[in-house]
Amino acid sequence: MKLDLTLSTISQIREALLYTADLQENLFALARSLRNQRHASEVYPRGVIEFSNHCELNCNYCGMRKQNKNLARYRLAKLEVLNAARLIESLGVQSIMLQSGDDYSYPIIDLVEIIYLIKAETTLHIILCLGERKYSDMEKIRIAGADMYILKLETLNRNLFRKLRPGKTFDQRLKLLLFLKEIGYEISSGFIVGLPGQSIQELAEGALLLKEIGVHAASVSPFIPNDSSPLAGFPPGDLETTYNMIAVLRILLGNVLIPSVSALSMLNPEGQVRGFNAGANVITINFTPKAYTKDYLIYDSHRFIVTLKTAIETIEKAGLRSSLKDIDNIERGCSSVIHQKEELYV
Ligand code: 5AD
Repeated sequence: MKLDLTLSTISQIREALLYTADLQENLFALARSLRNQRHASEVYPRGVIEFSNHCELNCNYCGMRKQNKNLARYRLAKLEVLNAARLIESLGVQSIMLQSGDDYSYPIIDLVEIIYLIKAETTLHIILCLGERKYSDMEKIRIAGADMYILKLETLNRNLFRKLRPGKTFDQRLKLLLFLKEIGYEISSGFIVGLPGQSIQELAEGALLLKEIGVHAASVSPFIPNDSSPLAGFPPGDLETTYNMIAVLRILLGNVLIPSVSALSMLNPEGQVRGFNAGANVITINFTPKAYTKDYLIYDSHRFIVTLKTAIETIEKAGLRSSLKDIDNIERGCSSVIHQKEELYV
């Protein structure tokens, strides 16, 4: 098989995003070889805690939009987050991701304290995905010890962006992303693939923009029509295009973190395995207490929850390895895990 694909122009990338059959397999093989060269077949697990589903925004694709009254809103206590962090570290996971809606009322002082305590007590790499907070708040939580910030651009099409994210603009978001890099965060960004009205041209340009920005991580998920959002009823994003985008990003960006996201498994049981075949190298395991996950509606009420067990199985099926510890051994050795297993997805 030849591995001499060139992706330097928009039209080459556009073509690659539409590859099928042998051409697609060739694209994936190149992406995998680049991943394996630099990461030696290693998958990096992250533990996510969705600590607040309050949101000030009304994004048309998202079920957590402010106007949706069909869900119970929650905020976790600081101690609940800290306990989950302890558990995550004990399972051999090296990164913790704190995620919420654009919850501007969540006190910044609480976030600072949580981040500071996690850093003081554990060796976890801290990733935040909190939406567009004030510049001064971004600085405070960076100083407290946060390492990476995820701010997906969602769509490169400025008109579509304005329509889908009322009150927000693409340029504002891009400016914030660049600011985050400037103040020392590792940054992660990406797109939703298959939003109604989105073009292949736009995805190709988006991939090149991520290269130009110099992101440390990139993430793409297929669009999932959320049943309590204005885009309910639209078709989901195309899985093959999403896999191709993962491969294109691996080839363009080289040594970065690229997750195989849970939304892939919502559209196909083998979706995340295929994401790894296309060059991904991160899996996000859900540690949000069970009582709350049904109300964290970013994708849909029928979300696919990645547990420690399903993560281990997916990594194995993809023929890769990770630092995750065997759950049976942990249960024997760590009583706090046994205790928390009741409420947490492990
Ligand atoms: N389909 C796909 N991705 C979505 N996100 C939110 N809603 C959807 C949806 N319906 C993604 C966005 C956001 C991340 C937290 O979840 O990219 O940045």
